[in-house]
Amino acid sequence: MDLEQRLRILVVGGGLAGLAAAAYLRGRHEVTVLERFTLVDFARNDYAMSITANTHRFLRELGAEDWQLQAVPLKYVWGCDAKGNVNETVAQSITPSGATTIFARRSRIHKELLTAATSPRRAGTPAKIVENVKITSVDVEDGVIRTEDGRAFRGDLIIGADGVNSIVRAAILGTVAPSASPSGVAAYLCTVPRSALDSDPSLSFQTNADAGLATFRGSDADGRPKSRVLFYPADPNTFQIVAYHDESPWVERFEKSGSSIVPRVSQLSMLQTFDDFTDSVKRVLAQATSPDVWRIRDIDRMESWAKGKAVIVGDAAHAILPYFGLGCNLAIEDGEALGYFLSNVTSASELPQALARFAALRVARAHMVQLAGRQAAGLVSEEEKESLPPFDGKAFMAKVYAYFSAEQASKEMCG
Ligand SMILES: Cc1cc2nc3c(=O)[nH]c(=O)nc-3n(C[C@H](O)[C@H](O)[C@H](O)COP(=O)(O)OP(=O)(O)OC[C@H]3O[C@@H](n4cnc5c(N)ncnc54)[C@H](O)[C@@H]3O)c2cc1C
Ligand SMILES: *[C@@H]1O[C@H](CO)[C@@H](O)[C@H](O)[C@H]1NC(C)=O
Ligand SMILES: *[C@@H]1O[C@H](CO)[C@@H](O)[C@H](O)[C@H]1NC(C)=O
Repeated sequence: MDLEQRLRILVVGGGLAGLAAAAYLRGRHEVTVLERFTLVDFARNDYAMSITANTHRFLRELGAEDWQLQAVPLKYVWGCDAKGNVNETVAQSITPSGATTIFARRSRIHKELLTAATSPRRAGTPAKIVENVKITSVDVEDGVIRTEDGRAFRGDLIIGADGVNSIVRAAILGTVAPSASPSGVAAYLCTVPRSALDSDPSLSFQTNADAGLATFRGSDADGRPKSRVLFYPADPNTFQIVAYHDESPWVERFEKSGSSIVPRVSQLSMLQTFDDFTDSVKRVLAQATSPDVWRIRDIDRMESWAKGKAVIVGDAAHAILPYFGLGCNLAIEDGEALGYFLSNVTSASELPQALARFAALRVARAHMVQLAGRQAAGLVSEEEKESLPPFDGKAFMAKVYAYFSAEQASKEMCG
């Protein structure tokens, strides 16, 4: 493609969504990613996540191999009660495409997406990364963004991949832009060595070759999953702990600090929260690193993700509740979809139509996932409940897994 037929694309935010978009767009266009922090510091918020089979296939297309991700394949999902009884086992790892759902640390996925976006060995022009720039204003009509230190950048397209508190979203939607709403639940995030589970006969089912995720369910408050301890592999030698509980004790600290994370709280508070759980679970919690407390939030659905020269992707467009662990999957799917819908675009005048096609496909999918998260969290209104069929988790996951590519999904949508 001629140089002048390429778009100049500015991506605000170098998280998972921003780097995935850059990795898929660099083949045809000239991409610059602007990130307020440095990307070398991958250890920030380095929790482990599940990557469903369809997104795992995207990562492999982008050149990320399982060994680079230190991936652990997901073979089982176990449901347990607070006393440690295993009540259900669901095997769900293999999909028709042959890919596997995996667990991996966020830092590993982030690093591989950065490589995919910037490596000179892949087709197209390596994306340019500008670190330590905080974007403070966005002009969606002129395609200009300004930084805290007084610089301005101009592009044919601005992609807002700036997370749950997105300023690009605010610029697109103005006063009707939704902001993150608390779900009433917080989560302790920490890790333990695999040996902590391995050495306990009542937990060692998780450390066999058949790896997976175990949820220990405590009692529900107001029909909402406020007491849940999750163990799942972060890498071959480490397990991630995510422990959901009522957010009440932390609300004041979240609000005072203006942050949704309270870092490094005492282990004792975590142990007290899950005092009525089986000793095996408590022994593991006692061996964990000191936990961070995360406020669990999502944002209301938005019908419009694009305006003028700007579009939003990832958590900026559809921050969801984490009960199905699908936020990163949606972010990577968004990147692949932008790559597809912008693949034939050779001038800025063709952008509005391409963005409209992108949004038509992705808004519908993100809303399906967001609603499922709220149903799992017991957060749908009585009114909504009446208009909805009962939630079917298996049918939902089948739909998640069936998404093959933006091209195929848009063909199916158009019939
Ligand atoms: C506890 C927990 C567990 C999760 N588990 C899973 C899971 O198992 N599977 C899964 O798929 N997903 C999971 N997720 C969700 C997933 O982590 C997110 O959906 C994903 O990280 C969103 O990526 P993003 O790039 O859109 O946003 P972010 O990762 O938030 O990235 C936004 C980036 O933009 C930058 N930025 C923000 N504002 C500006 C600005 N003004 N100027 C410049 N840069 C800016 C930020 O520094 C950041 O780097 C989980 C989330 C949580 C909290
Ligand atoms: C799990 O199974 C045990 C018996 O094995 C039973 O006592 C317990 O009530 C079950 N818990 C749930 C949450 O279904
Ligand atoms: C781009 O062009 C190719 C070849 O004509 C076509 O197959 C593909 O569907 C087009 N992509 C989009 C997003 O329209």
